[in-house]
Amino acid sequence: MSEADSPEGGYEAVAAAARAAQERLGGRPPKVGVVLGSGLGSWADTLADRVTVPYADLPGMPRPKVVGHPGNLVVGGVDSHGRSTTVACLQGRVHTYEGHSLGAIVFGVRVLAKLGVRAVLLTNAAGGIRRSFTPGDLMVLSDHLNLMGRNPLVGSNDDRFGPRFPDMTEAYSKEVRGLAHQAAADAGVPIHEGVYAALLGPTYETPAEIEMLRALGADAVGMSTVPEVIALRHMGVAVGAMSCITNMAAGLSAQKLDHSEVEATARASREKFVSVLSGWAARVGTAA
Ligand code: HPA
Repeated sequence: MSEADSPEGGYEAVAAAARAAQERLGGRPPKVGVVLGSGLGSWADTLADRVTVPYADLPGMPRPKVVGHPGNLVVGGVDSHGRSTTVACLQGRVHTYEGHSLGAIVFGVRVLAKLGVRAVLLTNAAGGIRRSFTPGDLMVLSDHLNLMGRNPLVGSNDDRFGPRFPDMTEAYSKEVRGLAHQAAADAGVPIHEGVYAALLGPTYETPAEIEMLRALGADAVGMSTVPEVIALRHMGVAVGAMSCITNMAAGLSAQKLDHSEVEATARASREKFVSVLSGWAARVGTAA
């Protein structure tokens, strides 16, 4: 059976999980969805008047296996620069390299979409390919290269999610990207914009692969985000995404790559990342 055909990741399962979430939210519809990447999970614990729903309470929701990724849907308020909105966060994400099906990978963002959010913002850690990047830099995604060799929409199409052949011309909404730049200016944090290449992992890349990715037009590389973006665009949801450049990609610095260093840089950049993220979510939630 293909991924899209499996009842576990199918439309009815997503709708049931969204209903279970809604029952816990008590009539407080979130405006913006947020997927929290490495090192950012604790942002959800800062939301005002929050409701925390463990993934275990959402039928069909896959659980993350990576240490440091608790699995909760957290809904609550964000206040930033005089704007307030309600966000629904996925605190803890599952990665394709963990061996989950792609239907499982995108289950959570499909639930966010069913909750009626107007846009979803995704965050991640990525290796820098553009030579002018420095670890700790933030990059808004302008586009992506799907080099995972997988696509969550493989299998028979369920028209209730979206069309068989979704357009990906503007995968990352221009308007949502513009609001990221405004939020960064409010926060006094410089941000870049560039193309994210998604590979399956879990190995980091070889230096030759990084030179290939540069030739293909990639500015950063990571192992997440793209399946979720595809599933959200399928459902017609506007998307924004931002990477923390946690390290220079393989071969671009004297250092070997090490997950604990990736995490340490993500932690060190956390404050500026979350100040931009809060402002971004508040602007997206209140945009006309
Ligand atoms: N490569 C792939 N994924 C990553 C990297 C990297 O260098 N850094 C953080 N996530």
